[in-house]
Amino acid sequence: MPNAISGFSKLTKSEKIEWLLDSYFTDKETARQLVKQYWNTDKKLQKLHDEFIENTITNYYLPLGVAPNFLINNTLHTIPMAIEESSVVAAASKAAKFWFDRGGFKAEVISTTKIGQVHFTYNGDFEKLNAFFEIVKPKLVSDTSDITRNMKRRGGGILDIELRNKSEELKNYYQLHATFETLDAMGANFINSCLEQFATTFKTEAKENLDGDLDIVMSILSNYVPNCLVRAEVSCEIEDLKSKDITNPELFAQKFKQAVNIAEIEPFRAVTHNKGIMNGIDAVVLATGNDFRAVEAGVHAYASRNGKYSSLTHCSIDNNIFKFWIEIPLALGTVGGLTSLHPLVKFSLEMLEKPSAKDLMQIVAVAGLAQNFGALKSLTTTGIQEGHMKMHLMNILNQFEATTEEKNQIVDHFKTNVVTHSAVVEAIENLRS
Ligand code: MEV
Repeated sequence: MPNAISGFSKLTKSEKIEWLLDSYFTDKETARQLVKQYWNTDKKLQKLHDEFIENTITNYYLPLGVAPNFLINNTLHTIPMAIEESSVVAAASKAAKFWFDRGGFKAEVISTTKIGQVHFTYNGDFEKLNAFFEIVKPKLVSDTSDITRNMKRRGGGILDIELRNKSEELKNYYQLHATFETLDAMGANFINSCLEQFATTFKTEAKENLDGDLDIVMSILSNYVPNCLVRAEVSCEIEDLKSKDITNPELFAQKFKQAVNIAEIEPFRAVTHNKGIMNGIDAVVLATGNDFRAVEAGVHAYASRNGKYSSLTHCSIDNNIFKFWIEIPLALGTVGGLTSLHPLVKFSLEMLEKPSAKDLMQIVAVAGLAQNFGALKSLTTTGIQEGHMKMHLMNILNQFEATTEEKNQIVDHFKTNVVTHSAVVEAIENLRS
């Protein structure tokens, strides 16, 4: 174990790497080579990446794949997906093509309101606090005018500020609960800057005009955005579900709906069901430079909004129509943040024909729905492993450093054989002996 180090962030990149190698690695030269192998030869591009975070030592690659044939509200999209899991892009592409042949996806943005809170304590009378808040509220807004000017010009800004009394749940605890419209920006910086200004104004005014102690605890946006909602759906007549893999559409629809119903009532299943949805959502969120941790946190909170963790998708069969839909909160941006900085994010957004934040909400929701459709279709018919292991085959072959010739022969072999880890190992050994 190395000694604790101070001033690490002030070291040069090479010094940081050398410290790491000395502290943790036995084969220092191999580790050094590896780190450097992932540096970009374009120094300007590397510097850009170095400066995204502190203490960058190298780059960490994820594949950027694309899933074509997504027909959304009658517009055709090719969706960029940054993800490492073998079968995700393949499943998305397959689901996209399936629904392309059946009229595509319909999506709509239901609402776009974002939330931020100033959390504070106050040890006086609530009625007095409330009266003070009503008087100071216009000043809270006007003091942010420098921050909100551009956003307001574009049609967004602060929507409202409420005083919320939480003192029954936590002694002396209150909030300024503010709502915002941030248009095409995810809005985290905008919201946090407004909130910090609210806090400063509120505290200053309270000192002069309110009896009792008022202390600001913190000011921060909420990643729970139940009023920044998007809905996506697919539907068709049950008969039209018929395809190469679905020979009995009536049975398929019933089993599929049952799988969704299970995820609606059973949290152990709902978590995995929703994880599959997030395979699609996170991959697009990441490719478009958005904050997938914020999206994850908000989506899972939404999945628990009725007091029990539940499915994000739903299914109905009425009058012979199969309908499958998702409704999720998504706070996304297509301007600001990484969107104009990371070259591959710019590339992804151009591929999506420069979407507005609302367009991107619809595309991301569709990616989640498509992913869930693909997973449930496999789970309720062939089982998940058949498709998954086919895609995972390449990972196993790469672990064994198979040559191109070996890969071709083994992939051929497994076109008609079941892929398991041991079967692949056996096939490699047979080929090599
Ligand atoms: C695997 O990444 C995702 C699935 O487990 C999702 C699901 O079970 O619905 C296949």
